[in-house]
Amino acid sequence: MTQDAPRPDKASPHKASTDKASPDKASTDKASTDTASTDTARPAVGITALGAYAPPKVVTNADFEARLDTSDEWIVSRTGIRERRYSEPGDFASDMGVRAVQNLLERFPDGLEGVDTVVCATGSPDAMFPATASLIAAQVGLRGAAAFDLSAACSGFVYACSVAHALVVAGTARKVLVVSAEVLTKIVDQGDRNIAILFGDGGGAVVVEAVPQGYGFESFVLGSDGAGAGSLYIRCVADRLPGNIPMGQYTYMNGREVFKFAVRVLGDSGLAAMQKAGLGSKDVDWLIPHQANIRIIESACERFGIPMDKTVINLDRYGNTSAATVPLALAEACQDGRIKDGQQLLMVAFGGGLSWAASTMKWYDRAAHAAKSKVLAEVGA
Ligand code: ACO
Repeated sequence: MTQDAPRPDKASPHKASTDKASPDKASTDKASTDTASTDTARPAVGITALGAYAPPKVVTNADFEARLDTSDEWIVSRTGIRERRYSEPGDFASDMGVRAVQNLLERFPDGLEGVDTVVCATGSPDAMFPATASLIAAQVGLRGAAAFDLSAACSGFVYACSVAHALVVAGTARKVLVVSAEVLTKIVDQGDRNIAILFGDGGGAVVVEAVPQGYGFESFVLGSDGAGAGSLYIRCVADRLPGNIPMGQYTYMNGREVFKFAVRVLGDSGLAAMQKAGLGSKDVDWLIPHQANIRIIESACERFGIPMDKTVINLDRYGNTSAATVPLALAEACQDGRIKDGQQLLMVAFGGGLSWAASTMKWYDRAAHAAKSKVLAEVGA
């Protein structure tokens, strides 16, 4: 059903950034894109501001126990999830995104100055069009900025970062606001114990722009396999997928198939991203994985040789917020001081498509650099 996950690139890690994988390094039935930014001749591009939002309404495992044939014990042991956040009936993806951007502005008041492009990664957009990115841009003072949505399900944030990175490297954009915004709970059958217990709502926002050399994104590994589309989907215009797979009203997921796929691609793509950047697992300070299932994350950690205590986990409190899980985890670990300037990060994600995405990045803490510059200026250095 699923296909080969990305293999480590045998070519030089210093090659151009958006080349298609060539047949000699990829199985012929797949297309994947490996990009790297280890070439010091190109501008370093990274994240300079970030924020996140999760709605206040908490839905616990006990709430599901009260209305579905399930138990806290089953949910915790099979997924690691204890509670998740639900948006209010009148709130949609753009609301999650706007509040994540507002949180970014609280942390980085000048964070949006000069933003010329907005990309929103979402699998639960407000509308087919206009883009949720346009709706968010208009509400956060960015009217006139280029704005578009990116559909790569739970891999969407890493995909969107790669697009933002490429736009800045190419000079097409100077400063890109990447927003992940999801309200999956509204398109999941709340009466189906197989899927309802997994998802929560939320948003994350980061600003991508030039950073000092030595910092920022080092590698991206992206891939997808539409032959696995029937394992995970939500209807839009068509009433069936290729292969005559009928689509109903709600999100469909074959949990076992997605689980097997996830275990394979998370490990393969993460290892490929590390190799692309010339890193070993010992170099990684923090793994930030898509938060879908603790067992999938444990298996990836084992493949990488990265211990769980170097892995950012918050699925116990938020469940799977699709494209928003990685920025939510990143923002949380930055805010509580776990992630520090100069540390090496590895982000890995998988989702509908089926899709996968991984990236390595040397963290640039803009606030820490600003504070250091201020001290140096005060002492006249
Ligand atoms: N409570 C109690 N029993 C349950 C529940 C529940 N909430 N859900 C399923 N079961 C039952 C099943 O009916 C099944 O019963 P049966 O053996 O009598 O048929 C049994 O538990 C085992 O079911 P499995 O599907 O084999 O359970 P599994 O261990 O695979 O766990 C799960 C299911 C949690 C869904 C797991 O497969 C998983 O996490 N898969 C990956 C999901 C994922 O990562 N999705 C990402 C989506 S991202 C995006 O792009 C939107």
